[in-house]
Amino acid sequence: MPSKTETAIAPLAAPLRGVTSIPGDKSISHRAILFSAMAEGTSELSGVLDSGDVRSSIAAVQKLGAQVDLKSQADGSLAGTVTGWGETGPIQPDGPIDCGNSGTTARLLMGALAPWDIEVTITGDDALQKRPMRRITAPLMKMGARFIPEGQELLPITMRGTSTLRAITHDAPMASAQLKTAVLLAGIYAQGTTTLNEPSPSRNHTELMLPEYGVVTTAAACTASVKGPSVPKACAVKVPGDPSSAAFLACAAVLTCGSDIAIEDVSLNTARIGFVRTLERMGADVLVRHKGTAGKEPFGTIEARHSGTLHGCEVPADKIATMVDEVPVLSLVAAFAKGVTVFREVDELRVKETDRIEAILEGLGLIGVDAWMDGSDLYVEGQPGLSLPPDTVFDSKKDHRLAMTWAIAGLAGKVAVQVKNFDSVKISYPHFLHDIERLTR
Ligand code: S3P
Repeated sequence: MPSKTETAIAPLAAPLRGVTSIPGDKSISHRAILFSAMAEGTSELSGVLDSGDVRSSIAAVQKLGAQVDLKSQADGSLAGTVTGWGETGPIQPDGPIDCGNSGTTARLLMGALAPWDIEVTITGDDALQKRPMRRITAPLMKMGARFIPEGQELLPITMRGTSTLRAITHDAPMASAQLKTAVLLAGIYAQGTTTLNEPSPSRNHTELMLPEYGVVTTAAACTASVKGPSVPKACAVKVPGDPSSAAFLACAAVLTCGSDIAIEDVSLNTARIGFVRTLERMGADVLVRHKGTAGKEPFGTIEARHSGTLHGCEVPADKIATMVDEVPVLSLVAAFAKGVTVFREVDELRVKETDRIEAILEGLGLIGVDAWMDGSDLYVEGQPGLSLPPDTVFDSKKDHRLAMTWAIAGLAGKVAVQVKNFDSVKISYPHFLHDIERLTR
């Protein structure tokens, strides 16, 4: 019998087959809510992901004075309106803003609040209180915002913004869309052009979305700028499906005999679908078909079929940001491939919802797969035809992406497994198991 926090995952009774859609993109949902909260007027949102993390963003902007009227739709998404604080700015909240498990909420909020003369304490759950924040507070301090205690790495942190922000050029030490977005959001209200340079391209939803809100941005590979001061204006946003969630279904199909699926209306933003390229390079049968654009975001279909002969490949450092949340599930695919797969420079995985490097090494070790770190590079030595030991108990470490990765290990490995704290999937993909089951009918 699984204990209270363990969920038993039964092996698949049938291959994954058919056409499915996928819940809304988490990154775009966060931005749609936050940018609409910052905007003057009432924005209309549809396709918004209904998940733990996005609920954290909704609760945060409500506490700061935005009016949110989003209702659950038949397909499980949220749709409706957000009326922002616009030129009058957010209200002084009556207590700390609890961002739950959501790093995106906490970090983007710091940028959004930097231009306002209010004092706000930002906090989160135990996992979020272990994640680094100085990467965000350091450039915002250069712009004029204050953080108490000064220079502190971990939440809770109290911030005091200022209406006289300075525009800056900041060279980011790592490719992080959360850092880029925080600086650009503050830059909207600074006098002049604020620029963020990064070592390799991170997801670019902010640069693509801000112009929809009437904010002028310019962007090229590894650099993005915003021209201030300006006030975002309400607009309409349709959120496409989340490629990071789609990746779990695609990898499950690639690993499971007889599978053949199509995932529709998913974001095909190239800064997000690096996992498709990696699967292709491993010899997997995956394909993307473009259908159109939602705002400036391309979307379409991802097809994935069972692929019997996978082989290892090398994923270069400058591509990691395009699949940063998919490395755990790709390392599982690598475990079933012939030869060694290497993911270059994956240190950022150590500061996600948990230390995902340690978790990957531990989980693959449990199923007898050799995986190791050499400096910042992750190596996985695959075993084609790998069969899992019976009754494996994986630990999700309360991390949604690991919970889904280890569930797929069981599905693909054709044995019943248990995953501790599986309910962490509610952070990004609450109906993950239900969708898998539907595809096997
Ligand atoms: C996100 C950026 C990435 C990603 C996270 C969502 C975003 O984090 O891992 O899940 O929405 O901007 P980093 O900015 O820390 O790389």
